Amino acid sequence: MVNKSPRYHISRILKEAEGPVSGEAISERLGISRVAVWKHVQKMQQLGYPVEATSRGYRLARIPDSIHPWEFAEREDRIHYYPVIDSTMNAARHLARGGCPDFTVVLAERQERGRGRLNRTWISADGGLYFTVVLRRRLPAALSYRINFAASLELALFLIEDYRLDAAVKWPNDVRIAGRKVAGILSEMETEADMITYVNLGIGLNVNNPLPPDVAAVTSVQSAFGAAVSRRRLLSGFLDRLETRMETIDRVNPVTGWKQLTDTLNRPVKIVTVKDTVEGIAVDVDQGGALMVRQPDGTTRSVVYGDCFYGN
Ligand code: BTN
Repeated sequence: MVNKSPRYHISRILKEAEGPVSGEAISERLGISRVAVWKHVQKMQQLGYPVEATSRGYRLARIPDSIHPWEFAEREDRIHYYPVIDSTMNAARHLARGGCPDFTVVLAERQERGRGRLNRTWISADGGLYFTVVLRRRLPAALSYRINFAASLELALFLIEDYRLDAAVKWPNDVRIAGRKVAGILSEMETEADMITYVNLGIGLNVNNPLPPDVAAVTSVQSAFGAAVSRRRLLSGFLDRLETRMETIDRVNPVTGWKQLTDTLNRPVKIVTVKDTVEGIAVDVDQGGALMVRQPDGTTRSVVYGDCFYGN
């Protein structure tokens, strides 16, 4: 059992308090000095946590939708939090190359250069969840696709089971609610001798962030759920599910479960790959995650990566 940190306890005490709490009262409850309490509070303020020092003690200016590391209890040491960053993918790559532990998470309130698949930009406004998970499962590189399928599947299942949302997965790894994209996944990996060294799984999830007014194809959890939701609860619930799923990833292919939750099959699609465009009916996703498209001439093409557009 990992002990929870002073910052975790300070945030708890302040959230539960009716009014300001003196530094002395906090120091007694935590068994640390008042100076130590003050140093923690200063660090929390620097990271944007709305804790104020008044003449009667510390108080929260508001109850924040906080995703600061201390909100994640046992995960705290493995969460790298940034109020703003270029892209969580860059920081995660640096950490992965430096040997950080499995399930290290880089998390940002906002990204200035968020990346989407196929070199697109991922708009990352305040209120969303933008994070990269460093995964170090010992797995043949040929099975790395399973990690992406596991992530989109677990996210969709979580939205269905815990939020009662009409979520589905779209090939290759989008998550949609009622036909609109709510999350996208981008992964990067390094291998050695055909084995994975790390896979960095980058996920952008629209939660309480504003949506572009002119794009009907996207949604957010807030918009679908009808109220703002706790990003902490969403992220920690998802990470728990992903961690459990990763324990069996070498034996249980998530594509089977993914296929039960997809809205991509049996419909006309256009797949834009880096080389060309494939059009036809999406008839299957094979056990390796490739989309099988039956073309107008009757032949079937297998596509491993690309952008998928639904036709009518
Ligand atoms: C997609 O194109 O659908 C994938 C989008 C992935 C966006 C996430 S946000 C966190 C991580 N950092 C990035 O720069 N991109 C990914």
